[in-house]
Amino acid sequence: MDASILLALRDPAGVPFYPVVFQALYVLTWALHAAFVLLALGSMGLSIVGTFKQKSDPIWKVMNPHLIQTGKISISILIVLGVAPLLFTQVIYDPNWYVANTLSGMWVFIFIYTLIVGYIMYYWYYYANKKIEGGGKLIGIISFAILVFAGILMHNFAVTSIMPNDWMQMYAPNGVVDTSGWTFNMEIIRLAFMVSLAVPVVGIFLQNYSRFLSTRADFSKEFVDYTASLGTKLGVVGLLISAVTFALWMLQIDYLLHPLSLAIVVGVVVLLLLVKQNKNSYITTGVLVVVALLISAMRELIRFDIMANLGYSIYEYPVNLEIPSIVMFLFTFLIMGGVGVAWLLTMAWKVGKNQGVFDGSKDVAVTKLGNYTLAIMVLWMVVYFGWGMFILFNNIL
Ligand code: HEM
Repeated sequence: MDASILLALRDPAGVPFYPVVFQALYVLTWALHAAFVLLALGSMGLSIVGTFKQKSDPIWKVMNPHLIQTGKISISILIVLGVAPLLFTQVIYDPNWYVANTLSGMWVFIFIYTLIVGYIMYYWYYYANKKIEGGGKLIGIISFAILVFAGILMHNFAVTSIMPNDWMQMYAPNGVVDTSGWTFNMEIIRLAFMVSLAVPVVGIFLQNYSRFLSTRADFSKEFVDYTASLGTKLGVVGLLISAVTFALWMLQIDYLLHPLSLAIVVGVVVLLLLVKQNKNSYITTGVLVVVALLISAMRELIRFDIMANLGYSIYEYPVNLEIPSIVMFLFTFLIMGGVGVAWLLTMAWKVGKNQGVFDGSKDVAVTKLGNYTLAIMVLWMVVYFGWGMFILFNNIL
């Protein structure tokens, strides 16, 4: 692929801020997306196993509705968090993203409907299971398969977008233009590694779940011990599977001895030890976050190298500084997002820790954070719409 074609595909308006910032935000937000993808697939997958045990086993009877609920919420979060890396990708790697979306246009349409149908069926599964203990098995399995398929489609877009040398062959195989939009590419080992991470993620989630509930008198010691030990088993086995698939992936693309790859291997070994001991799963989760960021950085490194070798460096993307947009973005993401999420998390934590009904209006921290969130949102709306209207009328009047 000629670099001039890639450069011509860039946005002539340039990027509104320094590309390295978008790159860092891409790495951060993809890691967040992946965290909830893995939690959704892991908890949903485990809940399907649970539907077979739920009727006869008192522990699964309590745990399974929680797993189903975790999957349900995680899907909505993964969708929201998927938008952010999507935006950053199309800012700095727009040639890649749009070519992949054109070549695989039909799959892009299918992706949207896959997600809608898969998520609606998840609700069906949720309600069926709520109505009858152990209910919704078949619907749950179908919904799970559909959502895994959504991940496979996402993988196709990511992989196609980093194959610029093959784009021409995909667009016009043997010189005959193919506008069907059915291009589909997979790298089985890369995909297997990504999806396998769902097992250790749900394992560490269960360790946290057990630790969190251990302070509540209405959850028996037997329940707390069982969930912790199940979490440990899943975490250890899952990490071993992920470690092997990761090494195979790195070997395949010749990155195994790269410092970043070695850092991931060290991270996985540390995780393995922490999960096995299960002394403090909250610390394990902190290490998991670091490893997730490293994996996200690895994906970015692979793409960056492929493109740099072709003469396309994101660092040379023309910059057309637009400070107000960046200020607005940072304000929205860090301040509004930060305070809002802190409010929701504080409330969720206290609801879970509290026995009986929790009244947020009587809790100082929850009330304060709630009031701040509301005030910041009102201010945000005034600024956002006021500013938009001002620019609009300033330009047209
Ligand atoms: C159940 C639904 C989904 C699943 C299971 C899923 C899973 C995945 C996986 C496994 C990858 C990594 C692919 C790879 O690197 O090989 C990925 C990447 C990504 N996903 Fe998702 N995803 C889902 C929904 C979404 C949605 C709704 C969005 C956007 C709104 C989104 C945005 C992204 C983006 C931007 C990437 C990175 C693409 C790139 O780097 O080229 N995902 N997703």
